[in-house]
Amino acid sequence: MTALEIALFRTDRCSKKSLRYLVQHAHVIVARQQETLEIVGYAILLGRKNSRKMRIYSFGIVPAARNRGLAGKMIEHLEDIVKISQCHMLTLEVSDSNTAAVNLYKKHGFEQYGFRLGYYEDGGHAILMRKHIREDSGDDDHTLYKSCIH
Ligand SMILES: CC(C)(COP(=O)(O)OP(=O)(O)OC[C@H]1O[C@@H](n2cnc3c(N)ncnc32)[C@H](O)[C@@H]1OP(=O)(O)O)[C@@H](O)C(=O)NCCC(=O)NCCS
Repeated sequence: MTALEIALFRTDRCSKKSLRYLVQHAHVIVARQQETLEIVGYAILLGRKNSRKMRIYSFGIVPAARNRGLAGKMIEHLEDIVKISQCHMLTLEVSDSNTAAVNLYKKHGFEQYGFRLGYYEDGGHAILMRKHIREDSGDDDHTLYKSCIH
């Protein structure tokens, strides 16, 4: 996962120690290449006790596996985890210069609700986005999703 962080982000990378903590305490999902099962992307989702909001803390697909809809599939999967966790809001921060990610999140129904000047280590600004997640009907089989969370 550290290698993925380096491949994906130029700034604000998670340290090995933070990643170790997150793997134990957060939801971490991975995207794998179909043929080789190589891990080509991952997302970290954080929740808090007594809160119905969850936050996408880290998210990315390696360059070689982009533009195939994998990020979109990961978002759908994260939304399933939010529902299973009985939460109703998914939030994230994204750099205002990251057109690909901003477009991705807008395409999947996220809306901007705030802006933070100089949020990133390199002085870049963050757009705060959120999506209301509809309640589940309650008759889905959640076992499948749980078994997919790494
Ligand atoms: C942003 C990122 C996750 C997209 O991954 P991906 O697997 O290529 O995305 P998808 O194939 O699922 O694309 C879905 C949508 O994202 C948007 N998108 C993806 N790449 C784009 C690009 N280069 N330019 C503009 N929009 C883009 C489009 O809306 C696209 O929908 P479309 O194909 O109908 O146009 C990937 O570029 C990435 O990992 N970037 C580096 C890490 C990062 O920025 N993470 C987000 C931190 S908040």
